[in-house]
Amino acid sequence: MVRDQALLDRVSQDAKSHLLATLPAGLESDRYRTMLSDPSFQIFYHAPALILISGISQGPWVVEDCALAADNLMLAAYGLGLGTCWIGFAQSFLNTPEGKTALGLPATWLPVAPIIVGHPKTVPAPVPRKEPQIRWVG
Ligand SMILES: Cc1cc2nc3c(=O)[nH]c(=O)nc-3n(C[C@H](O)[C@H](O)[C@H](O)COP(=O)(O)O)c2cc1C
Repeated sequence: MVRDQALLDRVSQDAKSHLLATLPAGLESDRYRTMLSDPSFQIFYHAPALILISGISQGPWVVEDCALAADNLMLAAYGLGLGTCWIGFAQSFLNTPEGKTALGLPATWLPVAPIIVGHPKTVPAPVPRKEPQIRWVG
């Protein structure tokens, strides 16, 4: 858990530089490049806390376990009236030796889910539901 805003600012800067240097070419990347090139864009949206859910042991399901933990965290936070967002923009940098050092993570840990938590300023309108694609087999 990180609440130090100066540290989150630094990690945001470094994560943006890292992504800009490593993004592959493509339309989606162009959209991201525009966002990441904006000096006023802070990838953590100045949220008061970042919770970085990480795998601390080697195992075949470590990413799945962390993603489930993240989902539960997000639902529990919502139940308490808090807002969350998974910050994928932080992931590649946090998985570098520099990123782990920045947050004091042991080199063997695997950062999976950077989740910001805060008090929502507004309640977003529900998004339109997409029809599920269900294949009935048998
Ligand atoms: C793995 C993952 C990574 C994400 N990374 C970011 C991010 O870095 N920044 C951001 O603003 N939103 C991020 N989001 C949130 C999405 O942009 C989107 O708001 C959210 O998934 C809601 O999607 P919906 O509109 O389809 O319901 C991420 C979501 C997921 C699942």
